[in-house]
Amino acid sequence: MADPRAVPVIAIDGPSASGKGTIAQRVAASLGFHYLDSGAIYRVAALAARRAGADLRDGEAVANLARRLPLAFAGERVFLAGDDVTDEIRSEAMSAAASVVAALPPVREALLERQRAFRESPGLVADGRDMASVVFPDAVLKVFLTASAEVRAERRYKQLMGKGLSVSLAAILQDLRTRDDRDTRRAVAPLRALTPEAVLDSEGRTIEEVVAIVLDRYRRALQ
Ligand code: DC
Repeated sequence: MADPRAVPVIAIDGPSASGKGTIAQRVAASLGFHYLDSGAIYRVAALAARRAGADLRDGEAVANLARRLPLAFAGERVFLAGDDVTDEIRSEAMSAAASVVAALPPVREALLERQRAFRESPGLVADGRDMASVVFPDAVLKVFLTASAEVRAERRYKQLMGKGLSVSLAAILQDLRTRDDRDTRRAVAPLRALTPEAVLDSEGRTIEEVVAIVLDRYRRALQ
């Protein structure tokens, strides 16, 4: 088997709004590694299904679309069939739709190789729910980034308010709990920490502190 350190992967899994994306991108930038936002792939798959008028609960229909998903990343932008869908896939409606299609085993299977293709030299930081357990089981470092639902809801609330959107904190908290519940209970690749050592609680820590902890764990993992 190939040495997993030849093209090392850092897997950063965790629940919605745990700050995975920000942390993973900063860790990637600091190491000069590539970055995979696997959640964006599920979001684009959900959007493609919706645009095609497919039933979001029909695993085979959505998987067929997912298998030949005309998806492209360009810096921070995400494209579906050449269409910039970066903002559209972040809406609350698409967050819910992504969580629904992500629970379908044929869809997860259809997206597996596509995610693995992001593993390129000199290395990859991948964020999602099952990066450590399913997609990159040989990751050099596995981190499960978390914080309480209340803290995550508050962060999301401030983010949306900052964008000038009028939202209710209670509604965000409710949405997060519903999604956590669906992501945690699904039969395939449920959201969970692989080991207690993987857990990194971001509560009470700044982004810089969390990034420093991940980089420190990575250096130790390489020793
Ligand atoms: O990380 P995110 O919020 O962008 O993810 C969107 C949805 O996709 C979320 O409900 C969980 C799901 N997802 C998943 O099941 N597996 C992944 N590797 C990434 C995301």
